[in-house]
Amino acid sequence: MTERPATEFPDGFRWGAATASYQIEGGVSEGGRAPSVWDTFAHTEGKVANGETGDIACDHYHRVDEDVSMMADLGLQTYRFSVSWSRVVPDGRGTVNADGIAFYQRLVDRLLDHGITPCPTLFHWDLPQALEELGGFRSRDTVSWFGDYAALMARQLGDRVPMWSTFNEPWCYAYLGHASGRHAPGLTDQAAAVTVAHHELLAHGLAVSAMRAERDGLQLGIVINPSNVHTEGDPPAPADQLRLVDGIHNRWWFDALLRGAYPADVLTSYGDLAGAVQAGDLAIIASPIDWIGINYYFDILLRGLATDESTRGLPEYPTVVGVTQADRRAVHTDMGWPITPEGFTQLLRRLDRDYPNLPPMHITENGCAYDDPVLDGRCADARRIEYLDVHLRALRDAIDAGVDVRGYYQWSLMDNFEWALGYAKRFGLVHVDFASLRRTPRDSAHWYRDVIRRNGLAATPR
Ligand code: FCB
Repeated sequence: MTERPATEFPDGFRWGAATASYQIEGGVSEGGRAPSVWDTFAHTEGKVANGETGDIACDHYHRVDEDVSMMADLGLQTYRFSVSWSRVVPDGRGTVNADGIAFYQRLVDRLLDHGITPCPTLFHWDLPQALEELGGFRSRDTVSWFGDYAALMARQLGDRVPMWSTFNEPWCYAYLGHASGRHAPGLTDQAAAVTVAHHELLAHGLAVSAMRAERDGLQLGIVINPSNVHTEGDPPAPADQLRLVDGIHNRWWFDALLRGAYPADVLTSYGDLAGAVQAGDLAIIASPIDWIGINYYFDILLRGLATDESTRGLPEYPTVVGVTQADRRAVHTDMGWPITPEGFTQLLRRLDRDYPNLPPMHITENGCAYDDPVLDGRCADARRIEYLDVHLRALRDAIDAGVDVRGYYQWSLMDNFEWALGYAKRFGLVHVDFASLRRTPRDSAHWYRDVIRRNGLAATPR
């Protein structure tokens, strides 16, 4: 390992970990919860690896006290989780489920008892199935139902919880869910995907005003997953297509939120696909926000198509042609993802440069999947420590360059249901044995506790 100096983060920097409702809770038919699109999708044959589902997941629904104590032992200062919409409003609109609200109130109270700041997300992909049956986020009605749900949560928890995000990675829900169909609800319809990409932002904007109307002093934001887009390998990807991928993946979200306009090149390329955008929508989308969440894992690497590959493309990027994913690098995580910490610094600097009105950022997810075994009660995961160390140094470089980043949430607190890939992809600081549900903090969890304690990184190697 190369030598790296000790590094301190700014005073008041917040350290946390993140999870999401369907990935950890389980208890899917308990306490009045109704199904979400992820229950339906996971129970559809062939959609999730090994036929796995979130029925039990980490059983967090029954282990809130134990899990919050574990967070306290790890020294977490803040915890990012998501609310299952169909647990608190089973049909997505109308009747509120008091037991569902009580579950999140209890979680929040336990966190506060331990001095951990809650940071809930309202939508981490588990749309109530009842709303999907009415057209899901393809329907403009869902936008206003989301506003009602957001107002409800501000009313119920806003006294104890100031910091909220509306959506997690709306790109993923729109395009993985509706263009490639790899995620719930599993559609392969480009126009639907673009409509959802617009309606999610509109729902975000509406939720911001609905929550502010309920309470003063809330800190409202949204979580985006931007990434640099590069070409790697042969043949190179054409520059205009790289730019279009960048537009769909990055500028669509940031331009709408911070400039009040979708990028012209993407709108031109989309043509009629973007027919859901109505006059006045962008003003709602660009309602001022207090912070923005950035999830960063890796840079997007693409190449052009070889002559015999004319049918390969990028189903998650409508209208993009002639490019595909670059071949997998020799060194990668269990997800097959490349490790590109320098891209993290570049990306944060770019956002800072391109958007003068960018609000303070929080890194709301960053982490890696590695399946290291538990042996005699210990899980040595040196590769995760290395990944986190280099990414935190990259983040520190961006802060040194003047970028305003206020906090960092590691993904994930514990191993969980990794969507269509099931339980085999292990992202946790804490190992979960999915047979016994036993939690075992990995070496990285102890390492992270030290990082939090010293508000920075020790010199390496130690
Ligand atoms: C992000 C998701 C999160 C998790 C990580 C690995 O895209 O927000 O739920 O799946 O990737």
